[in-house]
Amino acid sequence: MLFKACVESVEELARHSYYLLLREPQLAAQSRPGQFLHIRIGESLVPFLRRPFSLAGACPQRGTLEVIFRLAGEGTAILSRVKKGAVLNCLGPLGRGFQFSASRLPAVLLAGGAGVAPLLFLARALVGKKRRVALFYGAASRDDLLPLKRLLPRETAVHLATDDGSSGYQGRVTDLFAGAVRQGMQPVELYACGPRPMLQVLTKKNEAWNFPLQLSLEERMACGLGACQGCAVSIRQGEKSTYRMVCSDGPVFAAQEVEW
Ligand SMILES: Cc1cc2nc3c(=O)[nH]c(=O)nc-3n(C[C@H](O)[C@H](O)[C@H](O)COP(=O)(O)OP(=O)(O)OC[C@H]3O[C@@H](n4cnc5c(N)ncnc54)[C@H](O)[C@@H]3O)c2cc1C
Ligand code: FES
Repeated sequence: MLFKACVESVEELARHSYYLLLREPQLAAQSRPGQFLHIRIGESLVPFLRRPFSLAGACPQRGTLEVIFRLAGEGTAILSRVKKGAVLNCLGPLGRGFQFSASRLPAVLLAGGAGVAPLLFLARALVGKKRRVALFYGAASRDDLLPLKRLLPRETAVHLATDDGSSGYQGRVTDLFAGAVRQGMQPVELYACGPRPMLQVLTKKNEAWNFPLQLSLEERMACGLGACQGCAVSIRQGEKSTYRMVCSDGPVFAAQEVEW
């Protein structure tokens, strides 16, 4: 569970977005799409708490793990400056990842901003299972889009949306996908990760479409292990509501369970 991962490289991939390649063979062998690492950033007391990051990839053959993060505050700023050869104390792989159904339906992955990270890992896994995969990916502007050609299997169909229209569809990625459904998209399995409002809108729209939909949620975290209750979300259980921890019960939940 607790690993010391060696930094192989850190590079800026797009505006304010960084790619971190780590080496820790045992951790790489255990990691699945949708799981995350809880990383202690630096040896000093600042930042005090670990920071959670989805796995954007793991390669058991090479013993490597990929993390893609966007600058948000102090922790990610420090992480963007770590050097090759540094050792990061990582808890992981944490959480329950995406569920793979036996379905042969095409998979559609909807990503908003930094939410694309876990979906890159998922896309590779689904393509490996010979599933048809399309990624609908939205960002604020062209400069914020990750270089997907480098990060995705070439079999993945990519549909882009930007808020300012500088690349792809102008507007929200959920509207881009809704347009594809209106044009007669056949049933698909949906997987999504992104800002809360995006996931809320998607869940609402999906009430009409009724596609199987898994959401990867992000909440602020402290322990990452289900102990502090800091990341609780309200979950529907039949007629009742209950609380579940994003870190240990999630971060992936079936959309129909989540109470917004
Ligand atoms: C399961 C999980 C997986 C994640 N995966 C990724 C990832 O792959 N790539 C990535 O870029 N980010 C990811 N995040 C978000 C990432 O953990 C935060 O951006 C990071 O902890 C911010 O640390 P900081 O010290 O730089 O910023 P802080 O100084 O702690 O905060 C700066 C700003 O970021 C916001 N923020 C902090 N933590 C979160 C959070 N957990 N969710 C949403 N907003 C937050 C704060 O509200 C604040 O406005 C993930 C979060 C979770 C819970
Ligand atoms: S972060 Fe402590 S219970 Fe989830």
